[in-house]
Amino acid sequence: MGCLGWKYQLFCLVVLLSFLFHLPSSFSSSLSSISPCSALLHFNSSLSLHRSASPSYYASRIQMCDNSYPKTASWKEDKECCSWDGVECDQTTRHVIGLDLSCSWLNGPIHSNSTLFFLPHLRTLNLAGNCFNESLISPEFGKFKTLTHLNLSFSCFSGKIPNEISHLSSLVSLDLSLNDELLIETPVWKRVIYNLTQLRELLLDWSDMSSIRANSLMNLSSSLTTLSLNDCMLQGKLQNNFLGLPSIQTLDLGFNDNLDLGPFSKCNWSSIYLKFLDLSFISFSEELPNFISNMKSLKHLNLANCNLIGSIPISLGNLTKLTSLDMSSNNFSGLLPLSLLNLPNLSTLHLGYNQLVGPLPNHVSGFNLIDLSLGSNFLNGTLPSWLFNLPSLVTLSLDDNQFIGEIDEFKYNSLEYLDLGYNKLQGSIPRSISRFVNLTYLSLSSNNLSIMLESEMFSKLKNLELLDFSNNNLVGINNNVTYTLPNLQLLNLSSCNISEFPIFLRTTTTLLLLDLSKNKIYGQIPRWLGDVGRDSLYFLDLRDNLLQGPFPNLSFLSLRYIFVSNNKLIGEIPSLICNASSLYVLDLSHNNLSGMVPKCLVQSNVLSVLDLRMNSLHGTIPTTFSTGNKFRNINLNGNQLEGPLPRSLANCRNLEVLDLGSNKINGTFPYWLEGLLNLQVLVIRSNKFQGCIGNPKTKFPFPNLRILDISNNEFNGPLPIKYFKFLKAMTNVDEGKVAIKYMGEGYYQDSLNVMMKGLYIELVRIQTVFTIIDFSKNSFSGEMPQIIGRLKSLKGLNFSHNNLTGYIPSSFGNLSNLEWLDLSFNKLIGEIPRQLANLSWLEVLNLSHNQLTGHIPSGKQFNTFDNDSYTENLGLCGFPLSTKCNSYAAKKPPPLTLQQKDNIEPQNGFSWQAILMGYGCGVIFGMLMGYLMFKIGKPKWIVRMVKLE
Ligand SMILES: *[C@@H]1O[C@H](CO)[C@@H](O)[C@H](O)[C@H]1NC(C)=O
Ligand SMILES: *[C@@H]1O[C@H](CO)[C@@H](O)[C@H](O)[C@H]1NC(C)=O
Ligand SMILES: *[C@@H]1O[C@H](CO)[C@@H](O)[C@H](O)[C@H]1NC(C)=O
Ligand SMILES: *[C@@H]1O[C@H](CO)[C@@H](O)[C@H](O)[C@H]1NC(C)=O
Ligand SMILES: *[C@@H]1O[C@H](CO)[C@@H](O)[C@H](O)[C@H]1NC(C)=O
Repeated sequence: MGCLGWKYQLFCLVVLLSFLFHLPSSFSSSLSSISPCSALLHFNSSLSLHRSASPSYYASRIQMCDNSYPKTASWKEDKECCSWDGVECDQTTRHVIGLDLSCSWLNGPIHSNSTLFFLPHLRTLNLAGNCFNESLISPEFGKFKTLTHLNLSFSCFSGKIPNEISHLSSLVSLDLSLNDELLIETPVWKRVIYNLTQLRELLLDWSDMSSIRANSLMNLSSSLTTLSLNDCMLQGKLQNNFLGLPSIQTLDLGFNDNLDLGPFSKCNWSSIYLKFLDLSFISFSEELPNFISNMKSLKHLNLANCNLIGSIPISLGNLTKLTSLDMSSNNFSGLLPLSLLNLPNLSTLHLGYNQLVGPLPNHVSGFNLIDLSLGSNFLNGTLPSWLFNLPSLVTLSLDDNQFIGEIDEFKYNSLEYLDLGYNKLQGSIPRSISRFVNLTYLSLSSNNLSIMLESEMFSKLKNLELLDFSNNNLVGINNNVTYTLPNLQLLNLSSCNISEFPIFLRTTTTLLLLDLSKNKIYGQIPRWLGDVGRDSLYFLDLRDNLLQGPFPNLSFLSLRYIFVSNNKLIGEIPSLICNASSLYVLDLSHNNLSGMVPKCLVQSNVLSVLDLRMNSLHGTIPTTFSTGNKFRNINLNGNQLEGPLPRSLANCRNLEVLDLGSNKINGTFPYWLEGLLNLQVLVIRSNKFQGCIGNPKTKFPFPNLRILDISNNEFNGPLPIKYFKFLKAMTNVDEGKVAIKYMGEGYYQDSLNVMMKGLYIELVRIQTVFTIIDFSKNSFSGEMPQIIGRLKSLKGLNFSHNNLTGYIPSSFGNLSNLEWLDLSFNKLIGEIPRQLANLSWLEVLNLSHNQLTGHIPSGKQFNTFDNDSYTENLGLCGFPLSTKCNSYAAKKPPPLTLQQKDNIEPQNGFSWQAILMGYGCGVIFGMLMGYLMFKIGKPKWIVRMVKLE
């Protein structure tokens, strides 16, 4: 850095002198007499200018950097600095007394040696809305002795707030809010309370005050009018009266979810000056008291997420100055009071996510509403006409209620956000929507609407970002269109009965999410789909259609989720899929794809779900699963894969579901998977595995396995006693205490084909308590070990079609969750243990084709089984068989001549009349990702996104 001009050289000289003569604290004032202008110039030249340092930001009270521009760009060295933009001088002394460089694109650090601190006469300093690169707030700020206003908000400061801030004893306003978790510790907080007695405004939002005692807030200056501590991690109990500050007008304690403000009733709600109150995310668990209406000046009230109960007080209608009311996400019940909708100045009303019932009133007088959000309640009746006559309405969100009837035409065109989804609306969509030139969000999902996607309707909606018509009666598409939706990011036309790809997408380049699932779209996937969102599309759902032909070689670089299951695709998996380096879920199941499993897929370090089941893939499974991979579910069931299982599957440390059933895979039992701590489902049924299972190689094999299906292979030898001993997850599920959960994640619900109660069915969702062992159709021999009785959470046990001998262990009577038990087609002898009568959930029992003898246990479940459960035993007697028991017959061993042939096959299978209920063969929820995040997420998060761009 070179010294430019004589002013700077002089500055360098002074700095040098100050070091020589050790001038510590009087240093700055001695310098100021030389040139504040050169100090300013040098401060400016130490920073760079970037538009991104001053992004615009809106929150309830805050509107930052709306029209930012670089103020210092117009500063000229040859001019007197008092005339510079943002600089204010005293009329007589010509001292620089004010500096306002808010939202000026300033970017770079402010170190302690910055010349900013050579302006000793400053009274106001505003550097808000810039980005000082995570700088610490320098202790030098404490030297501005005459400062009355200091604003360093939204400027990327971080670290500890220095003690020296408490030297600014003339401060009237201190704003350090919206930085990166500035740390405020108790010593500096105490000094601030003690010394800054003139303070009227204190704003520290987004700081870390987690170590501050909440009660100390009561010691703040009594002249305080603004106290803003939103999202400051405050915790503990604030006793007494949190509204006790006598002059307070703005109080923001929102997003401090660990703060306890005690009961409302203890609080003095008569603060007549209070205009702004935000207590969102603080839990009260009580009714909102009527006397809230004493706060006559209140303009803005935010009690969202406060766990409030009871009905909404009618007296809120007395707060005639109210412009904004947010009480969403509480447990309010009852009717929506008419008095609220009649408030003359109300522009924002958020009451979504409550339990409000009944219809909306027919007549209201408050017509200033800009934002009306009543989603996720139980509101019903028709949509009243006043809703369509609000001249300033920008946001209307009535989704997830029970509204019926048709949607009227809107009289005005101001809407930007319209969500009427998840109701029972019918008819067509209002034509007036075509005039909403500023509309960005349109959801009419899940109604009974008849919608025609046609050109006139959408040609003007150039700002549309989200369009969701999913789950409606019928959507016709007029594909002779010329219009485009240049800003479309999310399109959901799932379950709309459409048979073509919507061609208006063709020129869209910003698409993030495309859901056309559950339609009747036929023919090939068009090539232009590859251009739609080439660099942006991350979610593509085409499942459950009639798509044919090969999967086109689309270069979806940004794709993270691909669902194309249940179509009629043929050909190979395209090689360009290897370019989708962020691919997280790939579901191509239930098609007719051929060729091999691409190597790149198993080499991925990102892929979590690989579902290629029910295709015609052949060849071996690639052997190169990498270490550190993220696989959670690998399903290759129902292909023609052959060869042995790759050992590198053991690298899948996150694996929960592995289903390789119905292939031609050979080799021995994959004991090397027993160390996978998360593995819950292992299915290798109907392959060519062979040999003896042997003993585990680790101390606690398969610690979380709950579904083990190795049936229909060529395993032989004894049942693996040691494995049964350690299948921990099968021994200890206490169902009564476990809430019903399903495996998988929001976007991908694990599903599985299992043999259940004698039927091969697809479980659309897998309950996490579902526990099955199926070893049927192998050649296991020897006896069934008693130890199986420890696997208490088992719901199904199938050892049928083996060569098992010996008795049925009486310990099976401990399998108290058992719902089906199939031991048929073995060589079991002896009596059926009486203990089995204790299995109160047992619905299906098959002991046929064995050599059992004696009395069939009676009572309880055993009264419900019929003859089929016992056929071909001949030594059994008693109900339901016609053979009566006498004491002689019961003890008689079975005649040897009745021994059955080993490999007898059932005639028509065993006919179970099982009622397959309770396993959630329900719907998978179509998931629109990220909607909620944008609707109710923390504003902070969005800002960070902005900053990242
Ligand atoms: C100011 O301090 C910073 C960090 O301590 C240092 O990198 C920089 O060179 C200093 N600038 C001047 C002009 O001394
Ligand atoms: C209080 O302010 C005065 C004057 O600015 C200062 O000298 C003193 O050190 C401050 N005291 C504390 C505890 O910060
Ligand atoms: C407040 O509203 C209630 C119910 O609407 C009404 O009975 C009461 O008189 C009002 N109180 C005042 C002070 O206006
Ligand atoms: C609306 O809901 C209320 C309360 O749940 C119920 O009593 C009423 O019958 C419903 N009205 C209609 C039109 O469905
Ligand atoms: C659309 O937005 C622009 C810019 O905010 C505004 O000037 C215009 O009035 C809006 N149009 C309608 C129909 O509200």
